[in-house]
Amino acid sequence: MTTITTTIPVQRVAKSRIQETDFNNLEFGKYIADHMLVSDFKDGKWHEPTIVPFADISVSPAMLSLHYGQSIFEGMKAFWMADGNINIFRPHKHSARLNRSLDRMCMPIITEEMFIQSLHALVETDKEWIPKSEGSSLYIRPLVFAFEARLGVKVADHFKFIIMNSPVAAYQPKPYRLKVETKFTRTAEGGTGFAKCAGNYGGAFYPTQIAREEGFDQVLWTDHKEHKYIDEVGMMNVMFVINGKLVTPQLTSAILEGVTRDTILTLAKDMGVQIEERRVSVEEIEKGLKSGEITEAFGAGTAAVVAPIAVIHINGYDHQIPVAGADSFQSKVKAKLHNIRMGLEPDIHGWNHIIRVK
Ligand code: COI
Repeated sequence: MTTITTTIPVQRVAKSRIQETDFNNLEFGKYIADHMLVSDFKDGKWHEPTIVPFADISVSPAMLSLHYGQSIFEGMKAFWMADGNINIFRPHKHSARLNRSLDRMCMPIITEEMFIQSLHALVETDKEWIPKSEGSSLYIRPLVFAFEARLGVKVADHFKFIIMNSPVAAYQPKPYRLKVETKFTRTAEGGTGFAKCAGNYGGAFYPTQIAREEGFDQVLWTDHKEHKYIDEVGMMNVMFVINGKLVTPQLTSAILEGVTRDTILTLAKDMGVQIEERRVSVEEIEKGLKSGEITEAFGAGTAAVVAPIAVIHINGYDHQIPVAGADSFQSKVKAKLHNIRMGLEPDIHGWNHIIRVK
Protein backbone atom coordinates (compact mmCIF):
# COMPACT_ATOMS: atom_id res chain seq x y z
CA MET A 1 0.00 0.00 0.00
CA THR A 2 1.28 3.47 -0.89
CA THR A 3 0.20 6.92 0.11
CA ILE A 4 1.63 10.10 -1.39
CA THR A 5 0.82 13.76 -1.63
CA THR A 6 1.19 15.64 -4.89
CA THR A 7 1.76 19.29 -5.74
CA ILE A 8 0.37 19.25 -9.28
CA PRO A 9 -1.57 22.48 -9.92
CA VAL A 10 -5.31 22.03 -10.46
CA GLN A 11 -7.59 24.37 -12.39
CA ARG A 12 -11.08 23.16 -11.53
CA VAL A 13 -14.09 23.26 -13.86
CA ALA A 14 -16.49 26.15 -13.31
CA LYS A 15 -19.44 23.75 -13.59
CA SER A 16 -19.24 19.96 -13.33
CA ARG A 17 -20.85 17.77 -16.03
CA ILE A 18 -21.55 15.00 -13.54
CA GLN A 19 -25.30 15.68 -13.43
CA GLU A 20 -25.50 14.93 -17.18
CA THR A 21 -24.02 11.46 -16.61
CA ASP A 22 -26.32 8.45 -16.35
CA PHE A 23 -24.52 6.40 -13.71
CA ASN A 24 -27.13 3.62 -14.14
CA ASN A 25 -26.20 3.14 -17.75
CA LEU A 26 -22.44 3.56 -18.15
CA GLU A 27 -21.62 2.45 -21.66
CA PHE A 28 -17.84 1.83 -21.77
CA GLY A 29 -15.96 5.04 -22.52
CA LYS A 30 -19.04 7.16 -23.26
CA TYR A 31 -18.62 9.67 -20.44
CA ILE A 32 -15.38 11.51 -19.70
CA ALA A 33 -14.89 13.03 -16.25
CA ASP A 34 -14.48 16.77 -15.65
CA HIS A 35 -10.69 17.07 -15.65
CA MET A 36 -7.62 15.97 -17.59
CA LEU A 37 -3.94 16.07 -16.84
CA VAL A 38 -1.66 17.52 -19.49
CA SER A 39 2.10 17.67 -19.83
CA ASP A 40 4.31 18.58 -22.80
CA PHE A 41 7.64 17.14 -23.81
CA LYS A 42 9.53 20.03 -25.38
CA ASP A 43 13.15 21.15 -25.49
CA GLY A 44 14.24 17.64 -24.53
CA LYS A 45 12.24 17.27 -21.30
CA TRP A 46 8.81 16.63 -19.83
CA HIS A 47 7.36 19.80 -18.32
CA GLU A 48 5.44 20.03 -15.04
CA PRO A 49 1.96 18.49 -15.56
CA THR A 50 -1.18 20.49 -14.83
CA ILE A 51 -4.77 19.46 -14.27
CA VAL A 52 -7.29 21.45 -16.30
CA PRO A 53 -10.96 21.10 -17.31
CA PHE A 54 -11.43 18.31 -19.87
CA ALA A 55 -11.87 20.03 -23.24
CA ASP A 56 -11.06 19.71 -26.92
CA ILE A 57 -7.52 20.61 -27.90
CA SER A 58 -6.47 22.29 -31.09
CA VAL A 59 -4.09 20.26 -33.26
CA SER A 60 -2.38 20.89 -36.56
CA PRO A 61 -3.52 18.68 -39.47
CA ALA A 62 0.22 18.14 -39.94
CA MET A 63 0.59 16.69 -36.42
CA LEU A 64 3.04 13.78 -36.80
CA SER A 65 1.04 11.20 -34.80
CA LEU A 66 -1.88 11.51 -37.23
CA HIS A 67 0.38 10.61 -40.15
CA TYR A 68 3.01 8.24 -38.81
CA GLY A 69 1.37 6.73 -35.75
CA GLN A 70 3.58 7.74 -32.82
CA SER A 71 0.78 7.28 -30.30
CA ILE A 72 0.55 4.92 -27.33
CA PHE A 73 -1.84 4.51 -24.40
CA GLU A 74 -2.54 2.67 -21.15
CA GLY A 75 -5.76 1.54 -19.47
CA MET A 76 -6.20 1.07 -15.74
CA LYS A 77 -8.84 1.37 -13.04
CA ALA A 78 -9.61 3.15 -9.75
CA PHE A 79 -12.20 1.95 -7.22
CA TRP A 80 -13.90 2.98 -4.00
CA MET A 81 -12.68 0.61 -1.30
CA ALA A 82 -14.88 -0.83 1.43
CA ASP A 83 -13.33 1.60 3.97
CA GLY A 84 -14.16 4.68 1.85
CA ASN A 85 -10.66 5.26 0.50
CA ILE A 86 -9.72 5.11 -3.20
CA ASN A 87 -7.59 2.44 -4.83
CA ILE A 88 -5.68 2.77 -8.11
CA PHE A 89 -4.82 -0.79 -9.09
CA ARG A 90 -1.21 -1.70 -10.03
CA PRO A 91 0.03 1.69 -11.32
CA HIS A 92 3.68 0.58 -11.10
CA LYS A 93 3.07 -2.30 -13.49
CA HIS A 94 1.24 0.03 -15.89
CA SER A 95 4.08 2.55 -15.64
CA ALA A 96 6.60 -0.12 -16.67
CA ARG A 97 4.48 -1.15 -19.65
CA LEU A 98 3.89 2.47 -20.67
CA ASN A 99 7.64 2.94 -20.83
CA ARG A 100 8.15 -0.24 -22.86
CA SER A 101 5.58 1.09 -25.35
CA LEU A 102 7.23 4.55 -25.40
CA ASP A 103 10.64 3.03 -25.93
CA ARG A 104 9.45 0.84 -28.84
CA MET A 105 7.87 3.86 -30.55
CA CYS A 106 10.94 6.15 -30.08
CA MET A 107 9.03 8.34 -27.62
CA PRO A 108 10.44 9.85 -24.41
CA ILE A 109 9.91 7.80 -21.27
CA ILE A 110 7.94 9.14 -18.29
CA THR A 111 9.41 8.47 -14.87
CA GLU A 112 7.41 6.21 -12.57
CA GLU A 113 7.28 9.06 -10.06
CA MET A 114 5.77 11.51 -12.56
CA PHE A 115 3.30 8.89 -13.85
CA ILE A 116 2.04 7.83 -10.43
CA GLN A 117 1.85 11.37 -9.07
CA SER A 118 -0.14 12.34 -12.17
CA LEU A 119 -2.60 9.47 -11.80
CA HIS A 120 -2.98 10.10 -8.09
CA ALA A 121 -3.66 13.83 -8.49
CA LEU A 122 -6.13 13.40 -11.36
CA VAL A 123 -8.11 10.59 -9.72
CA GLU A 124 -8.30 12.60 -6.50
CA THR A 125 -9.54 15.64 -8.46
CA ASP A 126 -12.21 13.56 -10.28
CA LYS A 127 -13.10 11.38 -7.27
CA GLU A 128 -16.83 12.18 -7.46
CA TRP A 129 -16.78 10.42 -10.85
CA ILE A 130 -15.77 7.03 -9.40
CA PRO A 131 -19.02 5.04 -9.60
CA LYS A 132 -20.20 3.29 -6.45
CA SER A 133 -22.11 0.26 -7.71
CA GLU A 134 -20.64 -3.23 -7.28
CA GLY A 135 -17.87 -3.96 -9.80
CA SER A 136 -17.92 -0.48 -11.37
CA SER A 137 -14.82 1.71 -11.56
CA LEU A 138 -13.17 4.81 -12.94
CA TYR A 139 -11.32 3.73 -16.10
CA ILE A 140 -8.12 5.77 -16.40
CA ARG A 141 -6.74 6.40 -19.88
CA PRO A 142 -3.17 7.75 -20.10
CA LEU A 143 -2.22 8.73 -23.67
CA VAL A 144 1.07 9.93 -25.19
CA PHE A 145 1.29 11.16 -28.78
CA ALA A 146 3.55 13.11 -31.13
CA PHE A 147 2.32 16.71 -31.25
CA GLU A 148 4.89 18.27 -33.56
CA ALA A 149 3.46 19.55 -36.85
CA ARG A 150 5.58 18.51 -39.82
CA LEU A 151 5.10 16.27 -42.85
CA GLY A 152 8.66 15.03 -42.99
CA VAL A 153 8.89 11.44 -41.75
CA LYS A 154 10.74 11.75 -38.46
CA VAL A 155 10.64 11.07 -34.75
CA ALA A 156 8.78 14.02 -33.24
CA ASP A 157 10.45 16.38 -30.78
CA HIS A 158 7.22 17.62 -29.20
CA PHE A 159 4.88 15.13 -27.45
CA LYS A 160 1.80 15.43 -25.28
CA PHE A 161 0.98 13.27 -22.26
CA ILE A 162 -2.70 13.42 -21.34
CA ILE A 163 -4.66 11.43 -18.77
CA MET A 164 -8.44 11.32 -18.78
CA ASN A 165 -10.96 9.36 -16.71
CA SER A 166 -14.20 7.59 -17.65
CA PRO A 167 -16.71 6.05 -15.21
CA VAL A 168 -17.48 2.46 -16.28
CA ALA A 169 -19.92 -0.21 -15.12
CA ALA A 170 -19.01 -3.76 -14.16
CA TYR A 171 -18.49 -5.79 -17.33
CA GLN A 172 -21.59 -7.86 -18.07
CA PRO A 173 -20.20 -10.86 -19.86
CA LYS A 174 -21.92 -12.09 -22.99
CA PRO A 175 -19.76 -15.16 -23.66
CA TYR A 176 -17.84 -14.84 -26.92
CA ARG A 177 -18.27 -16.83 -30.10
CA LEU A 178 -14.78 -16.92 -31.61
CA LYS A 179 -13.28 -17.61 -34.96
CA VAL A 180 -9.66 -18.78 -35.17
CA GLU A 181 -7.99 -16.22 -37.44
CA THR A 182 -6.04 -17.99 -40.18
CA LYS A 183 -5.66 -15.23 -42.76
CA PHE A 184 -4.96 -11.94 -40.98
CA THR A 185 -2.42 -11.19 -38.25
CA ARG A 186 -2.64 -8.79 -35.33
CA THR A 187 1.13 -8.25 -35.32
CA ALA A 188 4.22 -10.22 -36.19
CA GLU A 189 7.11 -11.12 -33.91
CA GLY A 190 9.60 -8.27 -34.02
CA GLY A 191 6.70 -5.86 -34.61
CA THR A 192 4.78 -3.77 -32.09
CA GLY A 193 2.43 -6.39 -30.58
CA PHE A 194 3.91 -6.09 -27.08
CA ALA A 195 3.47 -2.30 -27.11
CA LYS A 196 0.13 -0.62 -26.45
CA CYS A 197 0.31 1.52 -29.56
CA ALA A 198 -2.67 2.88 -31.47
CA GLY A 199 -1.85 1.08 -34.72
CA ASN A 200 -2.27 -2.39 -33.18
CA TYR A 201 -5.91 -1.56 -32.51
CA GLY A 202 -6.61 0.16 -35.85
CA GLY A 203 -5.12 -2.79 -37.74
CA ALA A 204 -7.37 -5.25 -35.88
CA PHE A 205 -10.62 -3.57 -36.93
CA TYR A 206 -10.81 -5.04 -40.42
CA PRO A 207 -10.37 -8.76 -39.54
CA THR A 208 -12.73 -8.28 -36.56
CA GLN A 209 -15.32 -6.65 -38.80
CA ILE A 210 -15.16 -9.60 -41.20
CA ALA A 211 -15.51 -12.05 -38.28
CA ARG A 212 -18.59 -10.12 -37.09
CA GLU A 213 -20.14 -10.29 -40.56
CA GLU A 214 -19.62 -14.05 -40.35
CA GLY A 215 -21.50 -14.20 -37.05
CA PHE A 216 -18.61 -14.19 -34.55
CA ASP A 217 -17.95 -11.72 -31.72
CA GLN A 218 -14.16 -11.69 -31.85
CA VAL A 219 -11.15 -13.44 -33.36
CA LEU A 220 -8.63 -15.73 -31.75
CA TRP A 221 -5.36 -14.35 -33.08
CA THR A 222 -2.71 -16.81 -34.19
CA ASP A 223 0.99 -16.46 -34.99
CA HIS A 224 1.88 -14.70 -38.22
CA LYS A 225 4.12 -17.43 -39.64
CA GLU A 226 1.91 -20.52 -39.62
CA HIS A 227 -1.38 -19.50 -37.94
CA LYS A 228 -0.72 -22.54 -35.79
CA TYR A 229 -0.19 -21.10 -32.31
CA ILE A 230 -2.58 -18.88 -30.36
CA ASP A 231 -1.51 -15.32 -29.45
CA GLU A 232 -4.48 -13.35 -28.05
CA VAL A 233 -8.25 -13.01 -28.18
CA GLY A 234 -9.73 -9.75 -29.51
CA MET A 235 -7.99 -7.03 -27.47
CA MET A 236 -7.14 -9.35 -24.56
CA ASN A 237 -4.84 -12.13 -23.43
CA VAL A 238 -6.39 -15.58 -23.58
CA MET A 239 -6.44 -18.31 -20.94
CA PHE A 240 -7.63 -21.94 -20.85
CA VAL A 241 -8.25 -24.38 -18.04
CA ILE A 242 -6.88 -27.70 -19.33
CA ASN A 243 -7.05 -30.74 -17.04
CA GLY A 244 -7.36 -28.36 -14.07
CA LYS A 245 -4.23 -26.34 -15.02
CA LEU A 246 -4.34 -22.69 -16.07
CA VAL A 247 -2.68 -22.47 -19.50
CA THR A 248 -1.86 -19.26 -21.40
CA PRO A 249 0.37 -18.46 -24.39
CA GLN A 250 3.89 -17.52 -23.31
CA LEU A 251 4.80 -13.89 -23.97
CA THR A 252 6.49 -13.05 -27.25
CA SER A 253 7.16 -9.71 -28.93
CA ALA A 254 3.76 -10.16 -30.64
CA ILE A 255 1.76 -10.46 -27.39
CA LEU A 256 0.79 -7.64 -25.03
CA GLU A 257 1.98 -8.26 -21.46
CA GLY A 258 -1.40 -7.79 -19.83
CA VAL A 259 -1.51 -6.54 -16.26
CA THR A 260 -4.67 -8.59 -15.72
CA ARG A 261 -2.86 -11.60 -17.25
CA ASP A 262 -0.10 -11.22 -14.67
CA THR A 263 -2.62 -10.63 -11.86
CA ILE A 264 -4.60 -13.78 -12.70
CA LEU A 265 -1.47 -15.93 -13.04
CA THR A 266 -0.22 -14.68 -9.66
CA LEU A 267 -3.59 -15.26 -7.97
CA ALA A 268 -3.85 -18.73 -9.54
CA LYS A 269 -0.53 -19.64 -7.89
CA ASP A 270 -1.83 -18.25 -4.57
CA MET A 271 -4.95 -20.42 -4.99
CA GLY A 272 -2.81 -23.53 -5.53
CA VAL A 273 -3.69 -23.81 -9.24
CA GLN A 274 -0.86 -25.02 -11.46
CA ILE A 275 -0.02 -22.58 -14.26
CA GLU A 276 1.64 -23.09 -17.62
CA GLU A 277 2.91 -20.27 -19.84
CA ARG A 278 3.84 -21.95 -23.10
CA ARG A 279 3.02 -22.21 -26.77
CA VAL A 280 -0.61 -23.28 -27.22
CA SER A 281 -1.48 -24.72 -30.63
CA VAL A 282 -4.86 -24.54 -32.31
CA GLU A 283 -4.59 -28.32 -32.71
CA GLU A 284 -4.20 -28.79 -28.95
CA ILE A 285 -7.25 -26.59 -28.32
CA GLU A 286 -9.29 -28.49 -30.89
CA LYS A 287 -8.36 -31.84 -29.31
CA GLY A 288 -8.95 -30.57 -25.77
CA LEU A 289 -12.37 -29.23 -26.67
CA LYS A 290 -13.34 -32.50 -28.34
CA SER A 291 -12.17 -34.61 -25.39
CA GLY A 292 -13.59 -32.30 -22.72
CA GLU A 293 -10.13 -31.71 -21.18
CA ILE A 294 -10.64 -27.98 -21.70
CA THR A 295 -13.23 -26.91 -19.17
CA GLU A 296 -12.82 -23.13 -19.39
CA ALA A 297 -11.61 -20.51 -21.86
CA PHE A 298 -11.64 -16.78 -21.26
CA GLY A 299 -10.12 -13.46 -22.22
CA ALA A 300 -8.22 -11.48 -19.57
CA GLY A 301 -7.96 -7.68 -19.82
CA THR A 302 -8.25 -4.56 -17.71
CA ALA A 303 -11.55 -3.39 -19.19
CA ALA A 304 -13.45 -6.69 -18.90
CA VAL A 305 -11.28 -8.41 -16.24
CA VAL A 306 -12.53 -11.85 -17.35
CA ALA A 307 -14.49 -12.35 -20.60
CA PRO A 308 -15.89 -15.88 -20.89
CA ILE A 309 -15.64 -17.75 -24.19
CA ALA A 310 -18.63 -19.90 -25.20
CA VAL A 311 -17.71 -21.14 -28.67
CA ILE A 312 -14.48 -21.58 -30.64
CA HIS A 313 -14.93 -22.24 -34.34
CA ILE A 314 -12.11 -24.46 -35.65
CA ASN A 315 -11.95 -26.20 -39.03
CA GLY A 316 -15.62 -25.62 -39.79
CA TYR A 317 -16.90 -26.86 -36.45
CA ASP A 318 -18.34 -24.92 -33.46
CA HIS A 319 -16.79 -26.27 -30.25
CA GLN A 320 -18.88 -25.39 -27.21
CA ILE A 321 -17.34 -24.53 -23.84
CA PRO A 322 -19.43 -25.07 -20.70
CA VAL A 323 -20.92 -21.99 -19.02
CA ALA A 324 -18.63 -20.90 -16.15
CA GLY A 325 -20.52 -21.40 -12.89
CA ALA A 326 -19.79 -19.91 -9.47
CA ASP A 327 -17.34 -22.77 -8.85
CA SER A 328 -15.29 -22.17 -12.00
CA PHE A 329 -11.71 -20.89 -11.80
CA GLN A 330 -12.63 -17.67 -13.64
CA SER A 331 -15.46 -16.87 -11.19
CA LYS A 332 -13.28 -17.61 -8.16
CA VAL A 333 -10.28 -15.61 -9.39
CA LYS A 334 -12.51 -12.67 -10.35
CA ALA A 335 -14.07 -12.67 -6.87
CA LYS A 336 -10.62 -12.83 -5.23
CA LEU A 337 -9.36 -9.93 -7.34
CA HIS A 338 -12.47 -7.92 -6.48
CA ASN A 339 -11.92 -8.56 -2.76
CA ILE A 340 -8.28 -7.49 -2.92
CA ARG A 341 -9.18 -4.28 -4.73
CA MET A 342 -11.93 -3.50 -2.24
CA GLY A 343 -9.55 -4.11 0.67
CA LEU A 344 -11.62 -7.09 1.84
CA GLU A 345 -8.67 -9.49 1.46
CA PRO A 346 -5.02 -8.70 2.26
CA ASP A 347 -3.07 -7.11 -0.58
CA ILE A 348 -0.05 -9.40 -0.15
CA HIS A 349 1.55 -8.38 -3.46
CA GLY A 350 1.35 -4.61 -2.80
CA TRP A 351 -0.91 -3.95 -5.80
CA ASN A 352 -3.20 -1.30 -4.28
CA HIS A 353 -2.20 2.36 -4.53
CA ILE A 354 -4.36 4.02 -1.92
CA ILE A 355 -5.60 7.62 -2.02
CA ARG A 356 -6.65 8.42 1.52
CA VAL A 357 -9.82 10.45 1.65
CA LYS A 358 -11.10 9.07 4.98
C1 COI B 1 -8.31 -3.82 -22.00
O1 COI B 1 -8.75 -4.96 -21.98
O2 COI B 1 -8.17 -3.17 -21.00
C2 COI B 1 -7.97 -3.20 -23.27
O3 COI B 1 -6.85 -2.90 -23.52
C3 COI B 1 -9.06 -2.83 -24.17
C4 COI B 1 -9.16 -1.35 -24.28
C5 COI B 1 -8.57 -0.91 -25.57
C6 COI B 1 -10.57 -0.89 -24.12
